Order: sequence, then C-alpha cells, then structure tokens
Amino acid sequence: MAQDDVFKKLVAHCKEYGYVFQSSEIYDGLGAVYDYGQYGVELKNNIKKYWWDSMVLLHENVVGIDSAIFMHPTIWKASGHVDAFNDPLIDNKDSKKRYRADVLIEEQLAKIEDKINKEVEKAAKRFGDSFNEQQFRETNQRVIENQQKWDNLHTRFAKALNDGNLDELRQIIVDEEVVCPVSGTRNWTEVRQFNLMFSTEMGSTADGAQKIYLRPETAQGIFVNYMNVQKTGRMKIPFGIAQIGKAFRNEIVARQFIFRMREFEQMEMQFFVKPGTELDWFEHWKTIRMNWHKTLGFGDENYRFHVHEKLAHYANAAVDVEYRFPFGFKEVEGIHSRTDFDLSQHEKFSGKKIRYFDPELNESYVPFVVETSIGVDRMFLQVISAAYCEEQLENDMRVVLKIPPVLAPVKLAVLPLVKKDGLPEIAREIIDDLKFDFNCQYDEKDSIGKRYRRQDAIGTPFCVTVDNQTLEDNTVTIRYRDTMAQERVAISQIGSIIGKQVSYKTLFARL
Ligand code: GAP
Repeated sequence: MAQDDVFKKLVAHCKEYGYVFQSSEIYDGLGAVYDYGQYGVELKNNIKKYWWDSMVLLHENVVGIDSAIFMHPTIWKASGHVDAFNDPLIDNKDSKKRYRADVLIEEQLAKIEDKINKEVEKAAKRFGDSFNEQQFRETNQRVIENQQKWDNLHTRFAKALNDGNLDELRQIIVDEEVVCPVSGTRNWTEVRQFNLMFSTEMGSTADGAQKIYLRPETAQGIFVNYMNVQKTGRMKIPFGIAQIGKAFRNEIVARQFIFRMREFEQMEMQFFVKPGTELDWFEHWKTIRMNWHKTLGFGDENYRFHVHEKLAHYANAAVDVEYRFPFGFKEVEGIHSRTDFDLSQHEKFSGKKIRYFDPELNESYVPFVVETSIGVDRMFLQVISAAYCEEQLENDMRVVLKIPPVLAPVKLAVLPLVKKDGLPEIAREIIDDLKFDFNCQYDEKDSIGKRYRRQDAIGTPFCVTVDNQTLEDNTVTIRYRDTMAQERVAISQIGSIIGKQVSYKTLFARL
C-alpha cells in the first residue's frame, strides 16, 4: 500500500477509535489544533511518564519544574524570539497557498535521495547476497549523477540559510523548477520572514495593558529559574532541569496531522555544564536520547541523526533525531549545544547575576547548556505510526495497534464469554482486583471475535476471557495481542503475567 494511503488510514483510525479529534470539530475545526480522546490522553500520559521518569528518576542530577506559560515579555526580547523567531515564507500567486521556502527545498532534496535509494534497493534485489552497496554507490552512473545533484543543492541551500539570503532561497526554488502542489505552477512571490509567536494582552487597557506572548518553547521557563533551582536544590554542575508543558507557534504551513501543530506540548531538559565541556556532554546526551527511542523496539533502522544545515545563532552544535514516518524521515527531537547564550542574555536584560560558583576552580562563571527537546505530540505520532498494522488473517483482516505494552492506553480487557451463568460477576471481580495496578476494560457485547478486534484496534496487549471452565477451576484464557496466541492460566497469575510486561522498570532496565 502507498505510504500516503497508510497515513490517511492512520489519521482516520485515530479519530474512529478515540485517539485524536480535530479541535472544535462541530464548528468545522480550527487549523492545526487537535484534541486527544479517551485513549489518546492515556497514551500521551504514558509517553510523558516514560520521558519524565527516564530523566528525573534515573538521573540524580536532573530535577523537574513546571513554569507558567505567561512570562515577562522581556524574556522573549532577551532570548531573541521577538527579533529572530521567523520562518522564510513564499506564496504561490495562482493558488494563493503559502509554503515554507526551506521546506520546499528540503522536499526537493528528499526526492533526489529517494531516487538514489530506489536505485540501490533495485540493485540489492537483483544481486542478492553478493551485493556490495558501497561499490554500487561509487560506480553506478545514475547514482553518481544524483548524488552530485544532491551535494550541489545541499551546499547551496545550507549557504543561503546560513547567510539569511532570502533572494537565494527563492532562486533555488525557481532553478529547481519546484511547482505548487495545488496549482501546479511556478508562479512564486518573493520570500519573506514571518514571526511565529502568538501574542495577547495582560491587564485592562485602563491600567495600561501589557503585550505578552504565549511561549513558543518551554526552555526559557527553565533558564529564568536556573538560579532558583540551583540555590534551593543545592545543585552542583553538571546538572539538569526538566520540564513538560504546552508551547504555541503560529505555524503557517501546518500539515501532516499532529506533526506540526499551533498548540503542542514539549518535553525539554536543559543540562548546565562547565564551559569547554559542552561538546562532550552533547555527545553524551545524543547517545542517551537515541537509546531512549530505540528501546521502544520499533527497529533501529528507522532512526537516524540529522546534522543541522544551519546552526541557530546561539548554538555551537545541533542534531535532530529523525524517525522514518510514513511520509519519510522527519525530526522527532532536537539536541542542541546552546552555549551560554540564553543565561548571558537574561543576565544582561534583567541586570541580575546568573552565575555558578565552582568550588573546584574557586571562580564563578555562566554555565553552558546542552538541551534535549522533544515534542510530546510528535512522539505520539511516531508511536502510533510505528504501531499501526493491517494483517491479513485466514478468513479475516485485522487492524491492530502494536503499541509497546508499557505505553498502551488499556492494558487488559476482561471478557465474559456469555452474559449469564455468573461469568460477568467473575469478570468484574478480576477487574476489581487489578484496576489499581492496570487500566482495565470490561466488555460483554458482541461475539468474542468482534471483541478481540475492538481491543486490537485500540492496542490492548492482553485480553482475558472468562468461560464455563472458569467456574470449575478458576482459570481463564489469556490472549496476546501481537501473536494472537492463547493460553490457560489461573486467575491468580494474571497480575504477574501482565505486570512484568507493562512495567516501566522492565523498559528502563533495557536502556
Ligand atoms: N527549545 C528548543 C526547541 O524548541 P525546536 O526544534 O524548535 O527546539 C523541539 O522544537 C521539538 O518540539 C521538535 O523536535 C518537535 O518534536 C517539537 N515541535 C516543534 N514545533 C512543533 C509543532 N509546531 N508541532 C508539534 N511539535 C513541534
């Protein structure tokens, strides 16, 4: 099935099974804003717990905070967001559609990369075990030509971005003959910068209202609390501050479902280090974060690092963790070495000292910062894209979400085979016994086959069926979502069988 079709089905599935709804749907929706349904919110909470505990429980030098969304407006002046938090936009004059110029060029690069990969895949099939990929890439004429094209375009693009050269970005789009997907024409406007921050007013106009911003990242709430946490927590460098919270960006090109939203959630950790050690710590956190992703078991080959073409003015190193979504490799998380830029700027703009006294050096300095920053919603999309499967069975088809059990919204469904003979009562007793440990669901409607399908569709890893044999020997059938295998177990064993597989401890032991 084409990847586009898979993605469309995934979006429809998220709606049909209570994972994600369009915001304000009965009023025809609000662009790039989404609500999470009864299962979506559980998955989201589980993702947040996986991140939070892996940061705050597993690292004794990382602590958490929860700062306000509204902050003093000077913070955004100091951080550079008022002047420089911009996207380069271009409009197609015929369709009147607006695009990000850098994204149009990145898509062009991805198309060339796709051509190369297809060529390599074809050859790998043809030559089988004797295939030498490196040799093929170095000798095949079509691959060499496309690689040359990619390299030239990439160099030109990176230079235009680094120079902030908007005319050159436009010229690349023209030279590459990029067409608008809606009108099919190449009738482009100039490229312009557009600030992404939302603003509102605080206080009544009579008192003199103040223009304030909805935070576009949670990180600044951490920077301005650095001294508070360092002092009250008696933190010694190196140490980190973690936070999960909402962020807002007026994304002009908001596409691909919850991949790019206007209101979203971030999980960010700022790690404060001694100047000069930041690049070692950057490597350290790259390894930790990549492991965190791969431990979920969605296939190591589906992750890669992408080194930034253009470093933000405050960074001396930056990479993205990319995942292979149905629409290609895309960023899930950013890891940035942010130097001492933010703390120094806040020192300058607030007039307050933001320093660390290092007892070993017997001197004070402004710490450097390594940041890990991941979107909750983008991680949610990553999990759900990886989990979505359509399986052809002997007489049937099933759609199943193979969400890792520890993240699954419902862990256990308890199903009485029939609605009589005391079976519903036993099923309720099982739930009453386990509901403090696991999210359980009771279902007695329809045939057992239909009930299994419903649980597969929401990703429940275990179903327990209570039948007449249960009345005789206190055993039930436990059915495993991924293999559909069934086994007979004692009711008293259910908790321990499930417990191990849905425990964060088991997952953390693999990190
Ligand atoms: N503090 C650094 C920072 O905000 P970023 O690369 O702009 O860096 C970090 O964002 C992460 O936040 C991204 O990797 C992505 O997962 C998520 N993110 C950013 N913009 C988003 C949007 N419009 N919708 C959903 N997630 C977004």
